[in-house]
Amino acid sequence: MKPLIELKDITKEFSGQVVLRGIDLEINSNEFVTLLGPSGCGKTTALRIIGGFIEPSSGEVLFDGKDIRDVPAHKRPTNTVFQRYALFPHLDVFENVAFGLRVKSQEFKDQYKIDLVVEKYKELIKNEKDPAKKRALRREVTRKAQLIKDPNFELKQQIQEYKQKIKDLKNDPEYLESKKTNINKAYKLKEQIEEIKLELSTLSPRDEGYRQVKKEKQAEIKKLNEEIKQLDLRSFYRQEIKNLKRQFETRKTRERDLEIKVFHYLKLVGLQGFEYRSVDKLSGGQQQRVAIARALINEPKVLLLDEPLSALDLKLRQEMQYELKELQREAGITFIFVTHDQEEALTMSDKIVVMNQGEIQQVGSPEDIYNEPINRFVASFIGESNIVEAVMIDDFEVEFDEVVHKCVDKGFSRNEKVEVVIRPEDIEILEKGMGKFDGVVDSVAFKGVHYEIDVLTKHRAYTIHTTDFHPEGKEVSITFDPDDIHVMEIW
Ligand SMILES: Nc1ncnc2c1ncn2[C@@H]1O[C@H](COP(=O)(O)OP(=O)(O)OP(=O)(O)O)[C@@H](O)[C@H]1O
Ligand SMILES: [Mg+2]
Repeated sequence: MKPLIELKDITKEFSGQVVLRGIDLEINSNEFVTLLGPSGCGKTTALRIIGGFIEPSSGEVLFDGKDIRDVPAHKRPTNTVFQRYALFPHLDVFENVAFGLRVKSQEFKDQYKIDLVVEKYKELIKNEKDPAKKRALRREVTRKAQLIKDPNFELKQQIQEYKQKIKDLKNDPEYLESKKTNINKAYKLKEQIEEIKLELSTLSPRDEGYRQVKKEKQAEIKKLNEEIKQLDLRSFYRQEIKNLKRQFETRKTRERDLEIKVFHYLKLVGLQGFEYRSVDKLSGGQQQRVAIARALINEPKVLLLDEPLSALDLKLRQEMQYELKELQREAGITFIFVTHDQEEALTMSDKIVVMNQGEIQQVGSPEDIYNEPINRFVASFIGESNIVEAVMIDDFEVEFDEVVHKCVDKGFSRNEKVEVVIRPEDIEILEKGMGKFDGVVDSVAFKGVHYEIDVLTKHRAYTIHTTDFHPEGKEVSITFDPDDIHVMEIW
């Protein structure tokens, strides 16, 4: 599958200071990608380059394989929820969300769509050898472009056809010939209708079978009217034109469609019933959701979210994490999400991009990043870790703290200096003398689900997460399995 977005060797300097260096990244359709890294590492800058708000100093940004250097922000298939969301305090929730649609200038949007269509046909036309087919393709693309520009284009075409038919009638000897007799016939039919109407007017609701008779008579009138229509083709066509004009999309119908959309997206972000609240009477989380609905309503292919949840308290944050993830799945949109919260990244993402000082450190699934961190930075940034300097003795053998341990890693040079990560939840506390290292419980902290216990061994303190309580000062031993030792190259 071709990636939706590709960053190729992107560099960005601000007045001599390099903030992004050689960023290479592929983002697929419908993917939830998170840019994760400490403050100042370049996350927002990378996002703004994708959105087209700033230009890279060098490198390429490709959308669907095409360089979009010259495509301005408002023409890109992206929408952004900024780090500091700006709602309009003088507009209510409804208008804040509708705003997204109202401002995104219809013309720009249409031109973008037309460009896409034309682009698609260019190739087809070029490859078509048959001149007749070539012409047909040209006509087709012109018609499609016109359709995008004018929502009533198709109706207008039909009207044009009827108008032409009316014109043709004038030159149609058969029609002119039959016109006289037809007019006479129509006149007779009209007389019949008048008679029926007269009968109808003499009926009284008290008569027997009043309703039934009335219905029958009305049906008869309708039938006669149809016949008259057929006799007088011209007025029939005129009537049809009138009917078509009634279907035209107007300001009024547009407003109704807009309302349906706004309600839909407010429901999606859980703000049903808040439509006519003033936004300054909403909580931070509700305001954030308004900002998200406003971005979603444009139905972007890609939604760029810059720390959208950072203003929220933990509980609301977790709720919104869940809702956003659901939304992304349901709407089938690609999310590029920026955060410096590793837990948020782990729970929401399909793909995490760990950044540090303008460089990508590692790209992978949450499991990859957590279980197989590529270096000390990633290991310490993602979750709590015990990181230990070690020496790779041979394949599957690593030495640290004066003990040679079995491990599952291979392919290093003999006696290569490495670093080892052991996650706190992978270490077990045993009775003194029963494990790999003896030590003393140095500190105990209750973390809600587990205890975080530091055990001081001869060489260092190991942090351990366990549901078992061990008091401070207790003499214990610790152990871990070969596959809990993760060996990393030193960068
Ligand atoms: N317009 C600018 N002019 C000059 N320097 C800038 C500009 N924008 C960003 N920078 C610098 O670029 C670096 C990266 O900034 P960026 O906003 O991308 O970081 P970030 O990863 O989003 O950080 P945070 O998590 O704090 O939002 C910072 O050192 C910042 O000071
Ligand atoms: Mg930022």
